[in-house]
Amino acid sequence: MEKVEMAFDEEIRIRSYDEEIHRAQVEVLERRCEVGPSESVFLFTDTMGDPICRIRNSPMYKMLVAESDNKELVGVIQGSIKFATVRKPPAKELAKVGYILGLRVSPLHRRKGIGSRLVYRLEQWFIAHQVDYAYMATEKDNEASVKLFVDKFGYVKFRTPAILVNPVNHRSLHISSSIEIMKLENEEAENLYRKFMGSSTEFFPDDIDKILRNKLNLGTWVAYPKGESWGEFGGSVVDGRAPSSWAMLSVWNSGELFKLRLGKAPLSCLIYTKSSRLIDRILPCFKVPAIPDFFKPFGFYFMYGMHREGPLSGKLVRALCHFVHNIARARSKDCKVIVTEVGGCDKLRLHIPHWKLLSCPEDLWCIKALKYEDTNTLHELTRTPPTRALFVDPREV
Ligand SMILES: CC(C)(COP(=O)(O)OP(=O)(O)OC[C@H]1O[C@@H](n2cnc3c(N)ncnc32)[C@H](O)[C@@H]1OP(=O)(O)O)[C@@H](O)C(=O)NCCC(=O)NCCS
Repeated sequence: MEKVEMAFDEEIRIRSYDEEIHRAQVEVLERRCEVGPSESVFLFTDTMGDPICRIRNSPMYKMLVAESDNKELVGVIQGSIKFATVRKPPAKELAKVGYILGLRVSPLHRRKGIGSRLVYRLEQWFIAHQVDYAYMATEKDNEASVKLFVDKFGYVKFRTPAILVNPVNHRSLHISSSIEIMKLENEEAENLYRKFMGSSTEFFPDDIDKILRNKLNLGTWVAYPKGESWGEFGGSVVDGRAPSSWAMLSVWNSGELFKLRLGKAPLSCLIYTKSSRLIDRILPCFKVPAIPDFFKPFGFYFMYGMHREGPLSGKLVRALCHFVHNIARARSKDCKVIVTEVGGCDKLRLHIPHWKLLSCPEDLWCIKALKYEDTNTLHELTRTPPTRALFVDPREV
């Protein structure tokens, strides 16, 4: 790691983000970060004046900036820390995980080791806080990012979940009259998540209660066949009788944090930002003929914590997705897409309505053990194909 520091011979200082000094500069850097061909349509983000909005809701977070001698901001990186399930029982199940996101280096300063220094310093912050594993997600074709993390920093390709995107239509979507949909209290949702996903799902966050109680969380809904009873199922100990089939999901209002906007770049403005992980991955798919509705800033809902049980549960998942679509249509003027992310081989995706054109079939997650004793477990984990579902934390979109 020292080599990374030594290889760099310019006077660049890595320091913590200071809102008063860096806020405006970070936004400029984000906008400057890529240049694309004039015929393409790009997706812009608007963090609404708060560059750290994407990590603010995590239990611990840090943003680092790289500053040149003349105080020009030339790079940024963000990270967050939480407890989550990584390993299978009976191994120690709960691990401290550090998530890396928002790495950007100004185009004029690339290939000078700045990206590496930012990653190195963020890893040092993780290590100082006893983080077991660091992980990041990137578009699988982002060569610079994959090479930096995998070749240079020893991250291992881990999972390839799919990001599924569905536009919100003007018309309501049909929900079968044979399906009952009910909103759960947060406590009941937490009980069900801990019982059914707690140890069987990769990256299940230990602070699920905080996510459910966050003001961005719009709620958790269950669907089950009409005529059957939900009753006490999901109560404090989840010992009631379950319906023969059921499905659940929660919804996060990401549009409250930042907006998206499609822009057909004029010659004078061939710049776009990629400040969202989501955008990093679906951006290439947006280089398509323009969809008029998306040219004004718009918000989106993120569906997470999808779980299903029973033979009819696929149909129930679809009904819940239609239900979320209808809420977005009725409640929010600016929610234009519904997004979710599910494990690569999770059959769940077959039941989630989405536009292939807007979706990203393979989001690449990479992971690295930061403690020596975790290396073997990690090898085991990354060698075996994923058998468990993946929990995608709405705070990390
Ligand atoms: C990815 C990014 C942050 C790299 O920043 P950087 O300061 O240029 O990276 P470094 O100089 O530290 O490069 C470290 C290593 O990464 C790899 N790398 C970086 N840029 C590369 C490129 N364009 N093509 C291939 N490999 C590349 C190389 O292995 C490089 O080591 P080397 O220079 O010794 O060959 C920068 O290209 C960027 O901001 N890209 C746009 C935003 C983005 O895609 N972010 C990542 C999202 S997860």
